[in-house]
Amino acid sequence: MTATTDTILSAHAREEVDRWLARYPDDQKQSAVLAALREVQHENGGYLTTPLMDAVAAYLEMPTIAVYEVASFYSMFELEPVGRHSVSVCTNVSCMLRGSDDILAHIVNKLGIEVGQSTPDGRIYLKREEECLAACCGAPMMQVDHVYYEDLTPARVDEILDGLE
Ligand code: FES
Repeated sequence: MTATTDTILSAHAREEVDRWLARYPDDQKQSAVLAALREVQHENGGYLTTPLMDAVAAYLEMPTIAVYEVASFYSMFELEPVGRHSVSVCTNVSCMLRGSDDILAHIVNKLGIEVGQSTPDGRIYLKREEECLAACCGAPMMQVDHVYYEDLTPARVDEILDGLE
């Protein structure tokens, strides 16, 4: 571990990563990269910075470019500040046939932001239109943070979004 890594990664983040590292062979430290990025993103208020990714790379003895590739590939990682709660509406075919376009339009209108933007108060990030979250039987649906909400109506959407702090 370098002094930089020690400074940038919190003690808790290092503990978390160490817990994951214990599951893998010593020469396979990169296996913990997803868990490490998830933890440091969480601690950093929901997004990754270059210094954080560099610190993860150093800690896992990986090339920095490999960590950047992982962080930019997976949609669960953010590379710039976003709202506290992430909202994604599925607009693939099953949800579309059950009114997801209207649900999304309702959210856009309600929040006054477009997909990919956050509300000015930093409360909600309308992250993206999803390509099927495997909950077609509950269409139309959306994901808020790590929770699925199904059989949506505009009234139900209002209830869910208004309940986010
Ligand atoms: S199409 Fe929306 S969950 Fe499958």
